[in-house]
Amino acid sequence: MAISTATADRPAQSAAEETEALTPSEVERLRLDFPALHVKRNGKSLVYLDNAATSQKPKAVIERLDQYYRSENANVHRGMHYLSEVATAAYEDARKKVQRFLGIPLTCEVVFTRGTTEGINLVAQTYGRKNVGPDDEIIISAMEHHSNIVPWQMLCDEKGAKLRVVPVDDRGELVLDEYARLLNGRTKLVAVTHVSNALGTVNPVKEIIALAHAQGVPVLLDGAQATPHLPVNVQALDCDFYACSAHKMFGPTGIGVLYGKAEFLNRMPPYQGGGDMILSVTFEKTTYSGLPYKFEAGTPDIAGAIGLGEAVDYLEAIGMRRIAKYEHELTQYGTELLSSIDGVRIIGTAKEKAGVLSFTMESAHPHDIGQIFNDCGVAIRAGHHCAQPVMQRFGVPATARASLAFYNTKEDLDALAVAVHKVKEVFD
Ligand code: ALA
Repeated sequence: MAISTATADRPAQSAAEETEALTPSEVERLRLDFPALHVKRNGKSLVYLDNAATSQKPKAVIERLDQYYRSENANVHRGMHYLSEVATAAYEDARKKVQRFLGIPLTCEVVFTRGTTEGINLVAQTYGRKNVGPDDEIIISAMEHHSNIVPWQMLCDEKGAKLRVVPVDDRGELVLDEYARLLNGRTKLVAVTHVSNALGTVNPVKEIIALAHAQGVPVLLDGAQATPHLPVNVQALDCDFYACSAHKMFGPTGIGVLYGKAEFLNRMPPYQGGGDMILSVTFEKTTYSGLPYKFEAGTPDIAGAIGLGEAVDYLEAIGMRRIAKYEHELTQYGTELLSSIDGVRIIGTAKEKAGVLSFTMESAHPHDIGQIFNDCGVAIRAGHHCAQPVMQRFGVPATARASLAFYNTKEDLDALAVAVHKVKEVFD
């Protein structure tokens, strides 16, 4: 397997990465890296198809966390002792790994957060509160996760601004003509998802960004469901903010990244006050640290950041292009399987999709589907997926959702189809 040597401005690819999907035998080997994929239930390994909720962790990440707590644990940026220097170096090294992985121009543009939700709230509460006023508008889309709706609603309520929503068509694609119509002189920000967690749609974000920039409007992308599946280069996209979560990228929970262009981050006020984000404090006046520390108040999730660094090393060693190609084939295979079963309706049939198979069945509620799948040893999510507006758009209260990662196989999808037939046996 080739180790990628991606740099911030040009993600390098091996020749194999350019052309080939992961092969089934490589996937079999990679599966051995993930202990949780081998947890047995009733004597059988679990079929884990809930990767959009969270991904499993490779041994490299688990062992890196263990190593940190065993032999490197200290607070960062504070101590003048050996362990603090080791911890600080590892934490800052993780920032550089993330910078390389996402093609971020400057290291100081990598802000560690608790996850995508915190990254979006940070932008809403700092950039938004500073720049959005009465009758201004923020554009989101009808397929957003609640974490890319509610922070903007809260901001609009506070400021008397308006939320405008780009509609979604019957396939689950954004209606770009409507989007172009919504952009106007009052638009202060566009905030859309790169990949939909409920439908799997990969949005044409380059086009969305170009249209916004033509009117001088900055764009935030919710990258939570994109970074585990696609090569992402924020410089090539030219987005202004990009938020993602480590736990969906085979890294630890509780840590994520907000990328922001320095020209924006520098002009934004801090999000939270506390230690590590100041240069000096008196009761009369506080001066803040520079980037990225201005946005990292308090002791950060040091172990989490280091674990995320290990996860991106792991992904780069496989190659994101190869992962994307393999998952594309797997998604097509799963789509064909589900489409061939009477009474199954796939919700989200966009041309460009990443690893999500959301569906309903005529005879059973999604929660019943999830229950029977669980009995069959197949882990999926059933519900509204924290995306109630898009459920309403498709006229369903909920869906059953199988979501893939590169360690899934056609056999996993065959098990999914067997479980669907089991549901039919019980409910038809
Ligand atoms: N946002 C995560 C999901 O889609 C939790 O399941």
